Amino acid sequence: MSPVGFHNLAQIHINGEWKTAEVAKQTPLLYVLRHQLDCKSVRFGCGSGHCGACTVGLNGQAVQSCETPLGAADLQTVETVDYLMSNEIGSVVHQSFIDVQAAQCGYCVNGILVSLVLLFRQNLSPDRDQIIRVLDRHLCRCGTHTRILKAVDLAKQRLADLKLHVQGGLNGTP
Ligand code: FES
Ligand code: FES
Repeated sequence: MSPVGFHNLAQIHINGEWKTAEVAKQTPLLYVLRHQLDCKSVRFGCGSGHCGACTVGLNGQAVQSCETPLGAADLQTVETVDYLMSNEIGSVVHQSFIDVQAAQCGYCVNGILVSLVLLFRQNLSPDRDQIIRVLDRHLCRCGTHTRILKAVDLAKQRLADLKLHVQGGLNGTP
């Protein structure tokens, strides 16, 4: 038996591969991702579910990993921003953020990109209310909200254009 015991082992399908974490299952997923699984793109902001910096995909839904216990991710699928940016939707959203220079310090952006890619994966043409609802869970301390919305509009337009031209539609999964 391991020093921490069998019940503290969790298997996570993370960014396309299975990995094992060995730590108490009530440990916040954020700490496991950063310190055991080397996912440094997942950021620590407030640590209390208020800023969204730590957002990751859990079975396709955006969750705040600081408030998600490791046990909730056991045998589940987790996606971080770097993985999501490698798919077609992710690269369009990412490039749109770059093109309008949406970020200032950039600390909030990884979590925002995760939420937006997961939104676009479900709906390529979300309306403004749906976009605001998603962004509402994210705090941008630099106040770049206007530029972020501009980037989202650009991404939406580009995805609509791609949808017209890519036969069979867009592939939302890497
Ligand atoms: S670090 Fe998780 S919501 Fe702020
Ligand atoms: S760009 Fe600095 S917190 Fe959002």
